[in-house]
Order: sequence, then structure tokens, then C-alpha cells
Amino acid sequence: MMSRILIFGVLLATCSIAFASDPSPLQDFCVADANSPVLVNGVVCKDAKLVKADDFLFRGLHVMGNTSNDVGSNVTAVTVAELAGLNTLGISLARIDFAPGGINPPHTHPRATEVLTVIEGSLLVGFVTSNPDNRLFTKMLEKGDVFVFPQGLIHFQKNVGYGHALAIAGLSSQNPGVITIANAVFGSNPDIAEDILAKAFQVDIKVVRQIQSKF
Ligand SMILES: *[C@@H]1O[C@H](CO)[C@@H](O)[C@H](O)[C@H]1NC(C)=O
Ligand SMILES: *[C@@H]1O[C@H](CO)[C@@H](O)[C@H](O)[C@H]1NC(C)=O
Repeated sequence: MMSRILIFGVLLATCSIAFASDPSPLQDFCVADANSPVLVNGVVCKDAKLVKADDFLFRGLHVMGNTSNDVGSNVTAVTVAELAGLNTLGISLARIDFAPGGINPPHTHPRATEVLTVIEGSLLVGFVTSNPDNRLFTKMLEKGDVFVFPQGLIHFQKNVGYGHALAIAGLSSQNPGVITIANAVFGSNPDIAEDILAKAFQVDIKVVRQIQSKF
């Protein structure tokens, strides 16, 4: 009886690990073959005999993103789409540039936890827990500080310094995905019906139309 409970416990623990992140690799590497018509969970492997060092290389993360946009930030992602060698390895990277006052607006990564470090400047960061508490955890970060945003939770960053700010983020998926809340809710294609948004946000339909027009 005891051992059966133990086995069940081990099985449960194994399952929760398996579902909490990208699946583990079944070979040394599986460089993404972007040209394969075969659809799998991830990307099909390129023939290992044809793999070259370049398949594990991405150049250009030293280049600042253009922050001249409505939010004043720019994310340069290095996921499996930019670096084929990341396929099946369960990690990716991003460079985030901020103009003074710029924000990386509230968003979630459906498939990844994010660990962010400030390289330059000062960032106000935060994330919100799930219902019913919706607790906000927020912190001021300076150069060298590291903050973690748990998988799936809504989070944001703001440059509160006088100059440009720069952060590097590691993510626990080759393809973390991004859902920017404002764009997804007010800029979906096609629109979510305005009466639904008016009731959800407890505002007049005119306010909903005004926000929708921005996305
Ligand atoms: C981010 O910067 C790159 C490189 O300057 C630029 O091509 C891209 O349009 C920018 N993205 C946004 C959302 O401004
Ligand atoms: C940055 O993006 C803005 C808006 O798209 C554009 O006008 C400007 O030329 C870009 N700057 C650089 C250095 O590419």
C-alpha cells in the first residue's frame, strides 16, 4: 500500500515536471529544419550529418532595437525561429531596449518562465498572480539586478531612469510565445464584440471603441 502511494507520488511529480516546460531532448541536438513540411510538436530535425557550427550561432544581439514606437521599447528575440540550434533545448533569450519612460507593456509568455537582468539603466518591473488574489509583486531594478517572472503570469517593465535602459532575459522555452494583453484583448482579429469588452472592463462602449482604434 505504502509503496503504491509512493509510486503514484513519483508518477505525479514526473508528470508535473514534464508538463511544466518544453519536452527534454532525445538526442544531442535537433537543429530545426525550417523547410520541412512535416508538422510536429516543435520543429523537425535537420539531418545531423549536415549540421554545422553556424546552426548554433546567432549574431547581432549587441545591436540596439529601435524604440521609436508607441510604447518606447523594443524586444529582439532569439528563439528557435532565429536560432535553429535551440530546437528541443527548452531555452531562449531576448534583448529588451527601453527609451526613457518606455515600457514593455503587460504581457505573458504562455510557455515560459523569464529571468531578466538589467545591463544598463533602472527598471520598474512587476508581475501579477492569478485569481482570486491578483497580487502585484513589484521592484525597482538597477544595473546587475536579476528578477524572475513565473511562467504564464502577466508582467511588465518600465524604464524609470533618465537614459536608455537595456535588459537581457532568458526564457525556459525554445518558443515562449507572447500575449500582449492590450493588443490581444483590444486588437484581436476579428474584434471581440464591443459589448463584451464594455461589460468586462465596466466602461462605456465609446471607451472600448476608442481603445480598439489604437490597436
Ligand atoms: C525593433 O527594432 C528593429 C531593429 O531596429 C526594428 O526593425 C523593429 O521594427 C523594431 N520593432 C518595433 C516594434 O518597434
Ligand atoms: C526607428 O523607427 C522609426 C519609426 O518607424 C523610424 O522613423 C526611424 O527612422 C527608425 N530609426 C532607425 C535608426 O532606424
